Amino acid sequence: MKNVTKSKTQKSLRKFPDDFFFGAATSSYQIEGAWNEGGKGWSMWDHLVRTDPGHIRDGTNGDVAANSYHFYEKDVAILKELGVNVYRFSVSWPRILPYGRADYVNPEGIAYYNKLIDLLLANNITPFLTIYHWELPQNLNEQGGWLNEDIAGWFGDYARVLYQNFGDRVKLWLTINEPYVHCLLGYGSVNHAPRLRSPGIKYYECGRNILLAHARAYHIYDNEFRHQGGRVGMALDAEMSMPSSNSPDDIQAAEDSMMFRLGQYAHPVLTEAGNYPQRFIDLIAEASARQGLSESRLRSFSQEQIDYMKGTSDFLAINHYSSNYAYRNASVVNMHEVPSMMDDMQVGSYMDPSWPTVSWIGTYGPGLRKLLVYIKDTYNNPTIYITENGFASSTGLNDDGRVNYFRQYLTAVLDAIDDGVNVKGYCAWSLMDNFEWDWGYM
Ligand code: GAL
Repeated sequence: MKNVTKSKTQKSLRKFPDDFFFGAATSSYQIEGAWNEGGKGWSMWDHLVRTDPGHIRDGTNGDVAANSYHFYEKDVAILKELGVNVYRFSVSWPRILPYGRADYVNPEGIAYYNKLIDLLLANNITPFLTIYHWELPQNLNEQGGWLNEDIAGWFGDYARVLYQNFGDRVKLWLTINEPYVHCLLGYGSVNHAPRLRSPGIKYYECGRNILLAHARAYHIYDNEFRHQGGRVGMALDAEMSMPSSNSPDDIQAAEDSMMFRLGQYAHPVLTEAGNYPQRFIDLIAEASARQGLSESRLRSFSQEQIDYMKGTSDFLAINHYSSNYAYRNASVVNMHEVPSMMDDMQVGSYMDPSWPTVSWIGTYGPGLRKLLVYIKDTYNNPTIYITENGFASSTGLNDDGRVNYFRQYLTAVLDAIDDGVNVKGYCAWSLMDNFEWDWGYM
């Protein structure tokens, strides 16, 4: 009896460590609006919503969005009211560099983010700045965007402009948000800008160039701005894939699924090998050979590129929403388009029907704990920040589903800390309702 009382008391006293931060996250195109004000150039999303407005499910766009360009003071006020001590936001590349390249810097863009950063600091809120959250200048998109190898140089120059102008006050930097989702939805399918549709070829090229661009931005910080005392990482999205049975095929399927989503981007920067996961390389090579190609559709990295990418991470930022069960059987062979990353992987997956689910987000807190432990074990216990986690709903303030979600996932973070995971911060997605890409405001 005594023990029961004690454990109950302990549970109610569970507490995050003093150095753990809480924040909220947004991204520029999703909240800023002012799409053609203040000297801003066009991004590829501005281009998409003008050339094919019907593509957005509710016919809307980010022209005004949450109007943060004009109402950023209100954003800071709601951060304050929420009681968080970190704000993760992104800078719009074409607001800073209207033509994409660093040879013309827009002073009004710099002034806008200076005002935001200063106001955050005046309110004791630490800015956590994402350099790229999918808002590629249209001018660079027309030159191939993430498919042009030169983008590492373009991106590095852009990052330098941000370090130069904001690095005296910004100490937490994310280079690129979710390369997997960005490349899959923008270059592997038509859902997101730039709506290229090449799931088995351009998808991989996009990811490869993003890794090299990330490394470039990291080295620029490391070589030229380290004295500012900040830290730089990349935000990777990850689900926890769990085997749907104890069969070796399903266990391998779950592991492969982790390698194709998280490993593709985390291995090159966080492992000693400094390269893609071997299994990822092998599966794509095998599928390419089966399809009669003399070379793998995945371009390999040179030793020089491997050395350049290795270790380019002061922390690992994770965006996490859901988990899944993975399986591999005869049915997955013809499940996906050929060629495609999904077909190369040959994994089927599903969410447990008992998880409360809205759209693609299924509520399963223990999956986050498993993911954090997986990262600790696979990547040598890096410092982890959760930079997105949250639940969609359209039920207004009757949001018990969201309350349940946050309770489960925050409990999972506490459990992971008890497991020895080095997780040091958490940002909810999102600070406010915003433009959810091709879904609009639905
Ligand atoms: C992430 C993305 C965010 C937001 C979020 C919620 O993949 O980084 O911009 O859209 O999903 O859907």
